[in-house]
Amino acid sequence: MSDKKIIAVLGATGAQGGSLVRAILEDRQGGFAARAVTRKPDSEKARKLAQLGAEVVAGDVDDANSLRKAFRGAHGAFCVTFFWDHMQPEKELAQARAMAQAAKAEGVQHVIWSTLEDTRKWVPLDDKRMPTLGGKWKVPHFDAKGEANQFFVDSGAPTTLLNTSFYWDNLIHFGMGPKSGPDGKLHFALPMADKKLPGIAAEDIGRCAYGIFKAGTKYTGKTVGIAGEHPTGAQMAAALSKALGREVVYDYVPPEVYRSLGFPGADDLGNMFQFKRDFESMYCAARDLQASRALNPRLQSFEQWAMANKDRIPTS
Ligand SMILES: NC(=O)c1ccc[n+]([C@@H]2O[C@H](COP(=O)([O-])OP(=O)(O)OC[C@H]3O[C@@H](n4cnc5c(N)ncnc54)[C@H](OP(=O)(O)O)[C@@H]3O)[C@@H](O)[C@H]2O)c1
Repeated sequence: MSDKKIIAVLGATGAQGGSLVRAILEDRQGGFAARAVTRKPDSEKARKLAQLGAEVVAGDVDDANSLRKAFRGAHGAFCVTFFWDHMQPEKELAQARAMAQAAKAEGVQHVIWSTLEDTRKWVPLDDKRMPTLGGKWKVPHFDAKGEANQFFVDSGAPTTLLNTSFYWDNLIHFGMGPKSGPDGKLHFALPMADKKLPGIAAEDIGRCAYGIFKAGTKYTGKTVGIAGEHPTGAQMAAALSKALGREVVYDYVPPEVYRSLGFPGADDLGNMFQFKRDFESMYCAARDLQASRALNPRLQSFEQWAMANKDRIPTS
């Protein structure tokens, strides 16, 4: 039997979890084994992970018993929730609580909780700068994760709170890429004015998480923030122009306009960008680039990511 330390990875067929599974498997001598948790072990994505060398196990984060089974015998657990699948912060809270409890019950020695800030600490509900959503949230997909930090702390499971960043892959998968304008140029819209937007290649999140596991107990009980770069919208447009070989113009769309765009989650995202815009220095300082690179020496800048993905970024 292998004496490798098992890392049970939730969301293993997705962006964050998948990148961690690949990071573990790429480092054959690293002393860790990847256990990919999925609801569908027979799916193509799950089979691909098995081919790469992962142990693939069935698990559903809504089922406490299957979570415990998934964590059994594991040294580490990577915990992430899936807000955009259901858009219910209360569900995220319940899932995070179940993850923390299962990790503690199974004696997991190192948990990474993929989280974000509870923005209500900076913008209380009675603050009129941005609307309150669902009666108790400012940025629902941030606030529930930040609120859930306490479940991990209270559980007693040794945990690293990992503050992630905006995935640049949103330009490919989340409709945030540049669009053709009537002037024949490409236009890249963000509600950031001239402020910096910390971002990261999704593939680098797992590599950073792997760096945290490899560091042993150095980061347990700590909060770690990661980003690949802190570019402004104009700098992102310039990098996109270079990568795509066409002029890309940055357009500032104020958060109040963004909130009213009408797609599901536009209000949540409008508030999110406003939070990042208005608390730029705090938000950037919480995602130190040197520390991120120390965890993951392959960390990409936005321009490197854009160059590598130029054929996948939609431009219509
Ligand atoms: N987009 C961004 O810029 C950004 C930035 C920071 C943080 N986030 C956060 O990242 C989170 C999503 O992570 P991601 O992007 O890695 O997700 P993802 O790529 O959408 O993948 C999620 C994976 O989770 C699995 N899953 C869904 N429901 C499950 C359940 N009930 N039990 C077990 N597995 C389940 C699915 O796998 P199976 O179908 O195989 O089970 C799916 O492949 C969200 O909460 C979001 O707020 C996003």
